[in-house]
Amino acid sequence: MLEIVDLHKRYELKTGRPVEVLKGIDLTVPDGSITAVVGPSGAGKSTLSRCISLLEMPSSGQILVDGRNLSELSGRALRDSRRSIGTIFQHSALLRRITVAENVALPLRNLGVEHGEMEARVAELLERVDLLHKADAYPGQLSGGQAQRVGIARALALRPRILLSDESTSGLDPRSTHQILRLLTELRADLGVSIVLITHEMEAVRAAADEVAFLDHGRIAEHGRVADLIGRGDSPAAGQLLPVHPVERVPGVRTVLRVSLGSVPVDPAWFGDLARAVSAGVSLLGGTLEDHGTRPLGRLVIGLDTDDQRQVAAAVAVLDAAGLRVIVEGGADVPVRGRPADADLTREVAGVAA
Ligand SMILES: Nc1ncnc2c1ncn2[C@@H]1O[C@H](COP(=O)(O)OP(=O)(O)OP(=O)(O)O)[C@@H](O)[C@H]1O
Ligand SMILES: [Mg+2]
Repeated sequence: MLEIVDLHKRYELKTGRPVEVLKGIDLTVPDGSITAVVGPSGAGKSTLSRCISLLEMPSSGQILVDGRNLSELSGRALRDSRRSIGTIFQHSALLRRITVAENVALPLRNLGVEHGEMEARVAELLERVDLLHKADAYPGQLSGGQAQRVGIARALALRPRILLSDESTSGLDPRSTHQILRLLTELRADLGVSIVLITHEMEAVRAAADEVAFLDHGRIAEHGRVADLIGRGDSPAAGQLLPVHPVERVPGVRTVLRVSLGSVPVDPAWFGDLARAVSAGVSLLGGTLEDHGTRPLGRLVIGLDTDDQRQVAAAVAVLDAAGLRVIVEGGADVPVRGRPADADLTREVAGVAA
């Protein structure tokens, strides 16, 4: 388990002026769990990553791995402890003049692991990332996704308890990204490692992370389970995690219901129930739904051709009973702005909801 307690990081600029880049970060990543860290450029994500991997020492605060405070160690003890943290770098950072197998063997060689044991371990690691057939290739002969998987094998060489990934999928095509994320989710399940996934890709967060922390100006602005944040629907995080294009004013629509499907299991009959509960037109204006393991995760925008308060209350009651979160925008002048909902998306969503 990784625990970060009240972590601060200050740098001193050339002018002598101090800048505080991390301003009291508290974050816990349990064993076998993936926490994504997202946030705008300059928020402090990579600084946090370097502090966790102890490439840089925090100005204050604690980094605990399985209860051991690594931030107060130095010298040999610090070097030993670094082994419990494996880092996957953005551009895999493989040495180009040695083979894939030699790259993966590097951390073991540095540790003085005996030759036979090293070879067996390297084969096991390459097998794990499905690249044993590339053992004798050079990094220049690999695709970006393959190189990144070799980077993962190398990060796992010393059996770390924590895996850190700073933008390891950025720049990869969707298929390679998917492969990497699937590999990471397998690793957390099989090896029980805690994974910190730093990314700017919300798709990656939705696909792989259990929890997500939004970092802004060195502070955690929001943090929670991915499904909970999307399901709440009313937070800035939900909007970023699963954006819904605003829809144009639709003739006849007098009330808009913004519905969120999140961590609570929902009876799929809710859409039909809603249509039956209201004696006015019910239309799907837009939205996004994704399969998230056992249940759909998403946000939908539904229009009602009425602003009668009893009808609206009946609609909300159906949604409440189904366990859905809903935000009502109503009145004669429904504030629906922006570009039209994507017709294909609306069809797709309608297909899922039906
Ligand atoms: N060694 C340093 N000295 C001074 N300032 C630094 C140093 N390293 C980082 N910073 C500053 O800290 C802030 C956070 O940088 P960091 O690289 O952690 O951001 P980031 O969230 O990873 O951004 P990006 O999404 O662009 O990778 C930036 O304003 C950066 O200029
Ligand atoms: Mg960065």
